[in-house]
Amino acid sequence: MRSTLTVVVPCYNERANIAPMVAALQAALAGIAWEVVFVDDNSPDGTADEARRLAQSDSRVRCIRRVGRRGLSSAVIEGALSSSADYVAVIDGDMQHDETRLPLMLEALQGGAALAIGSRHVAGGDNAGLSSPFREKLSNLGIAVAKKLTGAEVNDPMSGFFMLRRDLFESLAGRLNGQGFKILLDLVLASPTRLKIVEIPYKFRPRTAGESKLDALVMLQFAGLLVDKALRGTVPLRFISFALVGAFGVLINIAVLEAARSVGVGFGLAQTIGTFVAMIANFELNNQLTYRTQRLKGPKIWRGLLLFVLVCSLGAIANIGIANALYAQDASSIMAGAAGAAVGVVWNYAVSATLVWRSR
Ligand code: GDD
Ligand code: MN
Repeated sequence: MRSTLTVVVPCYNERANIAPMVAALQAALAGIAWEVVFVDDNSPDGTADEARRLAQSDSRVRCIRRVGRRGLSSAVIEGALSSSADYVAVIDGDMQHDETRLPLMLEALQGGAALAIGSRHVAGGDNAGLSSPFREKLSNLGIAVAKKLTGAEVNDPMSGFFMLRRDLFESLAGRLNGQGFKILLDLVLASPTRLKIVEIPYKFRPRTAGESKLDALVMLQFAGLLVDKALRGTVPLRFISFALVGAFGVLINIAVLEAARSVGVGFGLAQTIGTFVAMIANFELNNQLTYRTQRLKGPKIWRGLLLFVLVCSLGAIANIGIANALYAQDASSIMAGAAGAAVGVVWNYAVSATLVWRSR
C-alpha cells in the first residue's frame, strides 16, 4: 500500500527510544497510511539493529544506516529523499517532540499550507524541555537572528519538528546547506518563494532516555549556516571557515615566533618553527571544523598533514612571490602583502580541498 506520510526520524544512539517511537506513531497516526524511516549514522549502541528488529514484524518501519557520515540535517535530507509518500514529516528520535500533533500538521497541509511547523513559540507551545537556562538563552538568541534572516515569518525557526509536501522538499533539496542541526531554517531560507507556513503549538518534552548531541561544534555550524545564508551562497561556507582558521594560524605563528625569540632562538629559525606549528594547528582545526563531515582519521591523518604542509608551503611561496612582484611595481607594502596573502589562502583552499580532503 502506498503511504500518505513518511515520518523521518534522525537518530544517533537512540536505541532505547526506537520501540517507544514506533508505538507512539502507531497510536497517533491511526487511520493514516504512514511509514517511518529511522536514519541512523551507524550508532555504536545498535540503534539500527533495533529499528530493523521492529521492521521485521512491521513493514511500515524502515531504516537507513549511514556509514562514515554524521549529521542531523544530512540524515534528514537522505531520509526524506527516500520517501515516495505525499507528505514528509521530521521528528526527533528521542521523544522530545509531540507526535500527537502530526495529524494536525497533516490537516494543515491538506488544507493548502506548504509547510507545517511544530512550534514552541506560539500560544499553547512550550519550551520546558530545554535542558538548561543557558540552552534556553542560546536558543532564544538563535531564534532572534534566524527571524531577521527569514523576515520574521516563522516564530520557531529552530524547530526540528515539521511536515511538508514531498514534492516541495524534492524541489528544495539541491539548495540545502545540509550542515548541522537546523534543517528547517535551511529549508525556509532555500525557498525562492514565500512559503505558506502554519505553526502548530506543541510542548517540548524533557528527554527521558539517551542524551543530547548538540555540542559546541553544532552551534558553530549553526553560526556558519547563518553566515552562509546572509551571504546568500556567494562565498562557499567552507572557504569562510578555512580563511578564519588561517587567520587564527597567523596568530599562532606570531605567538610561537615571539616565544621562541624570547628564549634566544634566532629570527629565521624562530619563524620557521612558528610557521610549522601554525600549519599543524591549522590542519587539525580544518580537519575538525571545516572538513568535519569528511574528517581524516587514523593513518590517513599523517598523509593528509604532509600534503597540507606541502600545499601551504607552495601557497606561502606564491604569497611571497606575488607580494614581492607587486611591491617592486610600487604597490604600497600593505596592498602587496594583502594581495599575496589573498592569493595564498585561495590557493591553499582550492588545492587542499581537492588533494587533502577529497570528498569521497
Ligand atoms: N542520524 C543522526 N546523525 N541523527 C542525529 C545526529 C547525527 O549526527 N545528531 C543528532 N541526531 C538525532 C538525535 O538522535 C535526536 O533524535 C535528534 O537528532 C535531535 O538531537 P538531540 O541531540 O536530541 O538535539 P536537541 O534535543 O538538543 O535539539 C533538538 O530539538 C530542538 C527543538 O526542537 C533538535 O531537533 C533541534 O534542531 C531542535 O531545535
Ligand atoms: Mn533532543
